[in-house]
Amino acid sequence: MAALASVGPRERISVVDRFTVEGGARLLGTVRISGAKNSALPIMAASLLTEGPSLIEGVPNVRDVSTLLQVLETLGVKHDYVENGNGRALQLQVVDEKPIRAAYELVCQMRASICVLGPLLAKRGAADVSLPGGCSFGVRPIDLHLKGLKALGAETKIEHGYILGKAARLRGTDIFLGGPFGSTVLGTANVMMAASLASGKTTIESAACEPEVADLARYLNKMGGSIEGVGSPMLEIRGVRSLDGTRHKIIPDRIEAATFMIAAAMTQGDVTVEGINVFHLGSVIDILRRAGAEVIPFDGACRVIGPKTLKSVDVTTLPYPGVPTDVQAQLMAMLCVANGISVVTEKIYPDRFMHVAELQRMGADLRKEGATVIVNGVKELSGAKVMASDLRASAALVLAGLVAKGSTDISRIYHLDRGYERIEEKFKALGATISRYDDGEIAPNVPKGMTADV
Ligand code: EPU
Repeated sequence: MAALASVGPRERISVVDRFTVEGGARLLGTVRISGAKNSALPIMAASLLTEGPSLIEGVPNVRDVSTLLQVLETLGVKHDYVENGNGRALQLQVVDEKPIRAAYELVCQMRASICVLGPLLAKRGAADVSLPGGCSFGVRPIDLHLKGLKALGAETKIEHGYILGKAARLRGTDIFLGGPFGSTVLGTANVMMAASLASGKTTIESAACEPEVADLARYLNKMGGSIEGVGSPMLEIRGVRSLDGTRHKIIPDRIEAATFMIAAAMTQGDVTVEGINVFHLGSVIDILRRAGAEVIPFDGACRVIGPKTLKSVDVTTLPYPGVPTDVQAQLMAMLCVANGISVVTEKIYPDRFMHVAELQRMGADLRKEGATVIVNGVKELSGAKVMASDLRASAALVLAGLVAKGSTDISRIYHLDRGYERIEEKFKALGATISRYDDGEIAPNVPKGMTADV
């Protein structure tokens, strides 16, 4: 295996990069979906559980991955990208087991850094991990992570913005991980990783069932762990003394797939998304069909043909296998131009509606009532200058731009780079007109009066 680079991907990301999207193109063709960011991140953190090397295929080239690589580097994990016959793979190897601190400067850039907490406590017996803080869609507590780790015998306290934890060998026990909004994805990941090295048996009741959690469980089992009930809300974990390095291919990104499927439906397009697991997309396929799109699943792919006129659909986000909160914004963008009134209810993050005001700037008719938005479909959106506020909200603005009249100038698209790999290249290959502009550069065709927002 030849080393390609010892540094992470996406070295140069300007925080002021912008997109200009020209509306009106029908998307046509095939798009290949990348590996799932939300699967890759906890699996990368699991490298802390072993001294052996881990080889992970399908890790997407996105900024959250680079951020976690930096966190892991400060925790004594060396990484390389290697060519292994199946494309590029990420090799991770612990070279120093002493560090236990994940600093605020990195953790605040990416909340998922919290998934080093369980592995550090289980393997190194101590952790000093910054609290992630809030994010643009509200308070995001970690009480359930701490509840689970404490039940396993870890002692934790919060001091100066950091979680200080210590543990002798953790002990298996029965843990209920349900919270007010269902279970917790990264909380389940943290507890599952820690329990894998605990003595005795742990059961996690009300575990998150998301495919990314199941992928992590399969990874831990390949490392020599023993987890039963994978993909179900009841996990049974028999702790082992040590885990080995292993090799694993990350599952396809169902949220990226859904984003392109929605784009096809909105643009009267005809797009085949390939390299996916259609069984992870049931709720999204159901909504697209109810909205009038033709959806034809194949083995590992799905063709979506958009209707002439979209129909309104009510959407409620729920834990898997319900409609993912991570596609709520993109679905709302679609319903903005559907015929009729749709009701969109957010049951995971009641404040995840930063895209509403930006979509309104493009002419969407939206009324927010608590955790619900009433969408009154309009005939047409119009291009405007809008601002990306978080990863999925940004994706929604790109989708809206694809069907708006004229140009849409989206600033702060570094949010998109956190979780989508070369999204503009993929859209361009399907026929969209979308350009990235650097720093202070002014796009040639933005509507009159627009200047670069830096
Ligand atoms: N919650 C608690 N206490 C906790 C943890 C969570 O009350 O200790 C609540 C949250 O406030 C929320 C709900 O439980 O209301 C679910 O949160 P969860 O912990 O499942 O979210 P997460 O694990 O922090 C992951 C994804 C998110 C995705 C959510 C929900 C990763 C890296 N992140 O976050 O993805 O929205 O699950 O499915 O896996 C994204 O990719 O854009 C993204 C935000």
